[in-house]
Amino acid sequence: MATPEAAISEAEIVAAIEAAADEAALEAIRIQELGKKGRISEALKGLGKMTQDERKEAGPRLNGLRDRVQGAILARRETLAEAATEARLAAETLDVSLPVRSSPAARGRIHPISQVIEEIAAIFADMGFSIAEGPDIETDHYNFTALNFPVGHPAREMHDTFFLQPDAAGERKVLRTHTSPVQIRTMETSEPPIRIVIPGKTYRQDSDATHSPMFHQVEGLVVDKGATIANMKWVLEEFCKAFFEVPALNMRFRPSFFPFTEPSLEVDIQCDRSRPGEVRFGEGSDWMEILGCGMVHPNVLRAGGLDPDVYQGFAWGMGIDRIAMLKYGMPDLRAFFEADIRWLERYGFRPLDMPTLFGGLSG
Ligand code: DAH
Repeated sequence: MATPEAAISEAEIVAAIEAAADEAALEAIRIQELGKKGRISEALKGLGKMTQDERKEAGPRLNGLRDRVQGAILARRETLAEAATEARLAAETLDVSLPVRSSPAARGRIHPISQVIEEIAAIFADMGFSIAEGPDIETDHYNFTALNFPVGHPAREMHDTFFLQPDAAGERKVLRTHTSPVQIRTMETSEPPIRIVIPGKTYRQDSDATHSPMFHQVEGLVVDKGATIANMKWVLEEFCKAFFEVPALNMRFRPSFFPFTEPSLEVDIQCDRSRPGEVRFGEGSDWMEILGCGMVHPNVLRAGGLDPDVYQGFAWGMGIDRIAMLKYGMPDLRAFFEADIRWLERYGFRPLDMPTLFGGLSG
């Protein structure tokens, strides 16, 4: 039923629009007057039932009313939006006197393992070595057999290997227990002279304050026609002096056993442990074991596709985590992998302080 037009007071509607405190109140008025069942809409519907003369008079009047009410609503909406913006601008002030937050490059830290890998790479790059890498998931062949661990050899047991489920062909892959498999992969794909260092993750079932089931090793390999043990001793001595940042350092080479080298040696470096909680290198009368090395076994050269009557080589391997702990005095290996930001802030390195031999390794 059409609302009697007489009941509509334009002044009242306009006053209500002007008084609407927010968008919701304004919308309620719009629906009440101009919505499908709104009072003005209903009055407009009534035009159809009027005589022509009545319509001539009421049509323009009602249309005018609708236009003015619509205009008033639009104007009020605009005013409300402006007021909302004003209020936000007033509330959200920017305090330009606050100190500037330091940039990500200034706040971020490089993990000591990454730092030490960079240091090692810088030292060996200076001696003409390049970096080689291989997969963390290895075949039994590359991890053991090609490295002269025959099937059933007890040295396989010493590695506390993580085995994967056998694949469709019944082959059991392993998480590599050392970085040595990359020796074989490199020999297979490159021509001597070979001079590489191989940093990477390695895995063994072992976990305590000084062992983690995932740890890091760096491997070195030199293969050439005339590579000798004397060359190896020089390379390792240069490395140790550069890495521990000391001008001189005594080293001790002891006979040992690894299936992939013959002869095999273990290397101790001179240190001083007389001060509690501190190890100094290049002085004192203590020894610390830091790496294993030797002349590459002829079977290993053969497995890599090289003729042992033409080529010979030397190799070494060491734990990165351990030498990082020794160099930077970090007491517990487990903290390396706990991702505690406070630890990283204390022991981490600044991202832009790249280790170089000329600029200083540890900054
Ligand atoms: N692969 C040995 C290990 O994990 C370390 C090693 C020793 C590597 C002697 C070598 C080497 O290349 O010559 O215990």
